[in-house]
Amino acid sequence: MSAIQNIVILTGAGISAESGLATFRGPGGLWEGHRVEDICTPEALARDRPLVLEFYDARRAALTTVEPNPAHHALARLDAEWPGELLIVTQNVDDLHERAGAKRMLHMHGELQSALCEACEVRLPWAGPMIGHADCPSCGAKGALRPDIVFFGEIPYQMDVIDRALARADLFVSIGTSGAVYPAAGFVQTARHYGAQTLELNLEPSAGSFHFDESRIGPASRLVPEWVAELNGS
Ligand code: OAD
Repeated sequence: MSAIQNIVILTGAGISAESGLATFRGPGGLWEGHRVEDICTPEALARDRPLVLEFYDARRAALTTVEPNPAHHALARLDAEWPGELLIVTQNVDDLHERAGAKRMLHMHGELQSALCEACEVRLPWAGPMIGHADCPSCGAKGALRPDIVFFGEIPYQMDVIDRALARADLFVSIGTSGAVYPAAGFVQTARHYGAQTLELNLEPSAGSFHFDESRIGPASRLVPEWVAELNGS
C-alpha cells in the first residue's frame, strides 16, 4: 500500500469478541435472548423502560469483566505512532479502544458508560446501574435518564466528523463488523468514492465484502496486529 497518509478505521462488535463480549448477530449473539425491536428502539423504551434499562445495565456491568485484546492494543499503537490523520470510528458501545489507549476515536452509536437526559439532552458519564437511579442530576427531571445509545431509527453521533474524515481518507479499513447496519455499512462506498483504498478484516466475509479492494479473513486478534506491523513497515 503506497502513499497512505490519512486513515479511517471502522470497528464493530467482532473486534471485542475475543475480549469476551458477544457480537450482535453471530451464534451466541446478544439478540438470541432478546429481539432487537424489544430493546434498541425509542418505542421499546416507551413501552417497557425497565427492560431496556436492565438490558443495558447488564451490559455495562459486563465491561468490568473484560479487557482490551491484541487488536485494540494494535490500533492504539497505530494511533499513537501514525504521523498522518487517523480516525477510529467505532460502532461499539464498550470502552475497550479507550482502555487500550486510543485517542483519535469516536463512538458513533453512543457509549454504555454514558447517560442521556431525555428532558435537557445533557450527556453525562455513568458507571453503575441506571434502573432506579434515572433522575437527571443536571435538570432534575424524574426518571428522564436513558442509556446514551443510538437506537434503531436515531441518527448516529458525529456524522459530520466522519464524513469529513472519509472524504480525506487514503485508506479505509473495516474491522469486525457484519455490514448489516447503515450508515456505517455504507462508509466503504463513500471512502471509495473519494478515492481511498479499502480493506476488510473480519472472521467471515461480510454483507458488503464485495465493495472492498481486499478482504482478509481471520480473528481480529491476529489480523489487526499483522496489518498494523505491515503498515508501519511500509
Ligand atoms: P455484528 O454482530 O452484526 O457483526 C460482528 C462481525 O464480527 C461479524 O461479521 C463476525 O463475523 C465478526 N467477528 C466475530 N468474531 C470476530 C473476531 N474474533 N475477529 C474478527 N471478526 C469477528 O456487529 P456489528 O457489525 O458491530 O448497534 O453491528 C452493528 C450494529 O448493530 C451495532 O453497533 C449495534 C447493532 O444494532 C447499536 O447498538 C446501535
